[in-house]
Amino acid sequence: MEVVIVPDAVAGGELIAETIAALLSRKPGALLGVATGSTPLPVYEALAAKAASGAVDVSRARICQLDEYVGLPAGHPESYRSVVLREVVRPLGLGEDAFMGPDGAAGDIAAACAEYDRALAEAGGVDLQLLGIGTDGHIGFNEPCSSLASRTRIKTLTRQTRQDNARFFDSPEEVPHHVITQGIGTILEARHLVLLATGEAKAEAVALAVEGPLAAVVPASALQLHPHATVVVDEAAASGLKLADYFRDTYAAKPQWQGI
Ligand code: PGA
Repeated sequence: MEVVIVPDAVAGGELIAETIAALLSRKPGALLGVATGSTPLPVYEALAAKAASGAVDVSRARICQLDEYVGLPAGHPESYRSVVLREVVRPLGLGEDAFMGPDGAAGDIAAACAEYDRALAEAGGVDLQLLGIGTDGHIGFNEPCSSLASRTRIKTLTRQTRQDNARFFDSPEEVPHHVITQGIGTILEARHLVLLATGEAKAEAVALAVEGPLAAVVPASALQLHPHATVVVDEAAASGLKLADYFRDTYAAKPQWQGI
């Protein structure tokens, strides 16, 4: 696992956008797995700016969703489908045909989960999966004690996650209890995992995920199993890392052509 400590969220966004741009120049039709929440927004802003300036051609990029609330009415502005279309797909000038996600309004949720896992594989697999981390260590909506081998399935949110996400809704009770999330096993099939964490509130979860033991109780620790996982953190999110100086030295000495 590589840990890159950046000065702030904007620098993290720029670094990851550069990585996505480099991927798209090698593989214009790459499948990009995107995350929701506040943390990845600087990535999407930096990537949209690169696309607008002509620094990268995103016209053949494909976008896929990591997770989704269950039971929000179709078109609800906080469904992750709506969020990804608003924050990622449209700003990049892409159409809905470039986008795929699980159907959180399906009558048969189990079938919708299995169908999404299949669709990701049929699409050739995810080339780069962007991840956030919950204060409880979740990735996607894989809450603590999720199976490290799990596939896309329904999960129940913890009280903490519902509280963390209440800011997006008119009232805390409106945050759905259930979600569909790519499983940890599904996420681990992406070719490159890039987790971005910013702010002091994520420091403990980052330290446990990066330097703690591999454990289902810290779902993000599953990144330790992946051959190409990059954790990008700002100084505040890095503040619990014992090996921070080693990570700084390693990145400072890294040949630039290697990228992340
Ligand atoms: P956040 O969410 O970026 O809004 O903190 C991260 C997550 O829950 O994965």
